[in-house]
Amino acid sequence: MKSHSVVLIPGDGIGPEVTEAVKQILAAAEAPVEWVQHEAGLTALAQGKDVLPAETLNAIREHRVAIKGPCTTPVGKGFSSINVQLRKKLNLYAAVRPVRSLDGVQTRFSNVDLVIVRENTEGLYSGIENEVTAGVVTSMKVATEMACTRIARWAFRYAQQRQRRKVTVFHKANIMKLTDGMFIRCAQQVHEKEFSSFPYQELIIDAGCMKMVQDPTQFDVLLLENLYGDVVSDLCAGLVGGLGVVPGANIGDEDAVFEAVHGSAPDIAGKGIANPLALLMSAVMMLNYIGDTRNCVRCQQAAERIKTAYNRALADGQKTRDLGGSLGTAAFANAVIMRLRG
Ligand code: NAI
Repeated sequence: MKSHSVVLIPGDGIGPEVTEAVKQILAAAEAPVEWVQHEAGLTALAQGKDVLPAETLNAIREHRVAIKGPCTTPVGKGFSSINVQLRKKLNLYAAVRPVRSLDGVQTRFSNVDLVIVRENTEGLYSGIENEVTAGVVTSMKVATEMACTRIARWAFRYAQQRQRRKVTVFHKANIMKLTDGMFIRCAQQVHEKEFSSFPYQELIIDAGCMKMVQDPTQFDVLLLENLYGDVVSDLCAGLVGGLGVVPGANIGDEDAVFEAVHGSAPDIAGKGIANPLALLMSAVMMLNYIGDTRNCVRCQQAAERIKTAYNRALADGQKTRDLGGSLGTAAFANAVIMRLRG
């Protein structure tokens, strides 16, 4: 029976722990995937390779789909983010991050159902920084009509196909009149010309964040430029139980790389207590993506079984510490595997 080769990048910090758990759960669910492991990040450096080795990039270009653990980026010095490089080099322009309440995870709100669509290739993440003179530095925010239009079209198409309720742009075009101005102008044009009957809203980001924490149910699909998308993703994760439960995908026209929203969590790395659920949910997104793009029914079935199993585990109180439980990474993975079998 056909299986799909998927590049697996364990990453740094908690990455190897959570990817191992996900591999075991996908094997137990008989997901038709074959792993092709490659390295990136500090792990690659430790093996004497580049931080983002060409062989890793080429493997993703060859197999078209990858799942990755988080990669550490040094703060305030050192090499530029592997995650950002990967997204740019493979032109993975749309980051999509569903943020949903889970039945077994109690938070302030019980009915959050949001999807963040983040522009993944430009903005302040362009990394164009400059020391003008001692004590004066600048960072350049880049917005191109092409990328702003492309991400707006992607968000509206996604929202329409998935029968979502509304697209909301968070922006700061009152201050960044050219860059954020371009972002909303492109969104308005795409809306007017191609999706005029679809509900559309714009909010200045500071007020948007206030409304979000007051009542997240008033939002549905959020369209954001790169940095705002990064920050608002973590804010929204906090509404549904934290970074341990929010998955993500970086999608381009050719390739897709699935990864959790969280980072390498150096504070808990190596302790066996990280929550593998965010990466597991990313793997479910990956199976559905392969299912849709390659017409693989077994992938969709495995995705559904895994989803049912982790929801049952949570409902039975089987949780890692970040969610108020006491299980470690491997014990939670076993709880899901038992429910896949039982
Ligand atoms: P982080 O997301 O790694 O951790 C923030 C907090 O959430 C920590 O207290 C951590 O223990 C907790 N946490 C995160 N994931 C968890 C999980 N699965 N289970 C339980 N608790 C979890 O963010 P931080 O500390 O700001 O960044 C650490 C490193 O990760 C940095 O080098 C950063 O650049 C990198 N990073 C990488 C990303 C990626 O590879 N896509 C994304 C975000 C950050």
